[in-house]
Amino acid sequence: MSETFDVAVIGAGPGGYVAAIRCAQLGLNTVCIDEWKNSKGKASLGGTCLNVGCIPSKALLESSENYYQIKHKLSAHGITTESASVNVPVMIARKDKIVTTFTTGIAALFKKNKVKSMHGKGTLLKREASANTWQIRVDNSDNTETIQAKHVIIATGSVPRSLPFAPIDNDRILDNAGALALTEVPNRLGVIGAGVIGLEMGSVWRRLGAEVTILEAMPGFLMAADEQVAKEAKSLFAKESGLQINTGINIKSIKTSKNAVVVNYNDSSNQEQSLEVDKLIIAIGRIPNTTGLGVNDNGLLLDERGFIVVDQYCRTNLTNVYAVGDVVRGPMLAHKASEEGVVVAEMIMHLEKGQVSENEAVDFNIIPWVIYTAPEIAWVGKNEQELKAAGIAYKAGQFPFIANGRARAMGDTSGFIKILADEKTDRVLGVHMIGPHVSELISEAVMAMKFSASSEDIACIVHAHPSLSEVFHEAALGVDKRALHI
Ligand code: FAD
Ligand code: NAI
Repeated sequence: MSETFDVAVIGAGPGGYVAAIRCAQLGLNTVCIDEWKNSKGKASLGGTCLNVGCIPSKALLESSENYYQIKHKLSAHGITTESASVNVPVMIARKDKIVTTFTTGIAALFKKNKVKSMHGKGTLLKREASANTWQIRVDNSDNTETIQAKHVIIATGSVPRSLPFAPIDNDRILDNAGALALTEVPNRLGVIGAGVIGLEMGSVWRRLGAEVTILEAMPGFLMAADEQVAKEAKSLFAKESGLQINTGINIKSIKTSKNAVVVNYNDSSNQEQSLEVDKLIIAIGRIPNTTGLGVNDNGLLLDERGFIVVDQYCRTNLTNVYAVGDVVRGPMLAHKASEEGVVVAEMIMHLEKGQVSENEAVDFNIIPWVIYTAPEIAWVGKNEQELKAAGIAYKAGQFPFIANGRARAMGDTSGFIKILADEKTDRVLGVHMIGPHVSELISEAVMAMKFSASSEDIACIVHAHPSLSEVFHEAALGVDKRALHI
């Protein structure tokens, strides 16, 4: 007889592993099935985020920024070094060590919370209408096992979208995994896609000395961001970071030779152009991953783009089957995946106890976005173009980092913070930041919006001096046209 669980989670990325831990904390007998293998062929928990996404990219962004500071910025502080060099294999080994610490940490968290961990591909089998448990087949290279569970949470994540005429070999043409594992700095790096991965990975290798050219199909730049922030970012990236960003291009062909990759494209004026690089990163978005889940057989409904169809509480069309994270609609972000995992775990617990679920659906309007470039970019809520399109009357307060004492002391004065508040009620509708450490500063804005704060509420809060957070305070004062230091 196969083992039976209250909950089976398929996928151990930030959606799945957090859901599994929360289920177990709530007393549900839980198994988490994951098929990820690292470059050494070993099972590795944590999904895209821990293995080839959020964590390794931030490790390399930190290392490369340190190098860049030493090379280009510290002399202004009176600090000079005879020479600075970078040892890429050491940098990559440091990143790998951080990844291993976290992926093995998930295994420890599973053990502590009594989540059973199974390695292998999970397939949700078709069931009879009368059955009250689901069967999941787990296949790995050693054996095949079938388990049963009353509830199933699918958290199978996403995979990189590819260009049909430019297959990833992770030698010349790289996806995110390849871009995080280069062992030397390429002289010339090309990136297709000026999205989040393109900008972050382009920044890493640019800071280490590569000549970086980014080719973007859309006519605009960072179109999901507030237009003013995107404009500032493009100009700062070109002037200070040295990223060459060409928008409005149309790729015609990509050819690989032994020593180079050649991208033929039409530029925004429809002129034929050619770019020869040593390495090419393809970062043109990600697609939901439902391979091997058994969707053709089990009746799970997908939308036209391949995402599993769910309602606001992440319930699929199948009874007691839920889906969270990148494999469903909404932003492809780790914290969104985890929050959905928690909501589903708590909903299952309430169902099991026969209680009415009081959980709120995850509110995408207060999910923060962060791009870890230099300067960093972060936002939450609506931007100016969205408010205008929706016909919502708003007022704006803005304050630049250059007028902030702490930013001056740090020598990091680019950018600004902008708060958008409802014209009548003063409720904060959106906050947009570009500048130093805004990845941290955005949380105050998220909290303010979660508590339905007005800009006046923020203006009434005492912020430590000197601190970068004073820029947020001054932007709130600015909504009422009473900023003090400008
Ligand atoms: P995933 O993390 O993709 O995990 C899915 C897991 O399911 C994987 O382990 C996979 O092997 C497993 N799986 C799939 N199918 C099966 C199956 N049938 N059986 C068993 N296991 C299966 N987001 C942020 O919020 N901040 C960042 O800074 C950030 N940086 C990123 C940088 C890069 C380079 C990339 C690529 C992504 C980044 N992201 C970031 C996005 C983030 O990684 C994803 O949003 C997040 O990992 C999604 O979590 P998930 O649990 O839905 O899926
Ligand atoms: P993306 O959607 O952010 O950007 C892809 C870019 O490629 C877009 O600007 C798009 O217009 C462009 N593009 C698409 N097809 C193209 C083509 N044929 N030629 C040229 N350009 C083309 O996707 P990306 O960068 O791959 O990242 C995937 C997702 O991973 C992100 O959307 C985000 O959700 C997540 N992520 C989050 C990070 C963070 O939170 N800091 C960091 C990295 C990734």
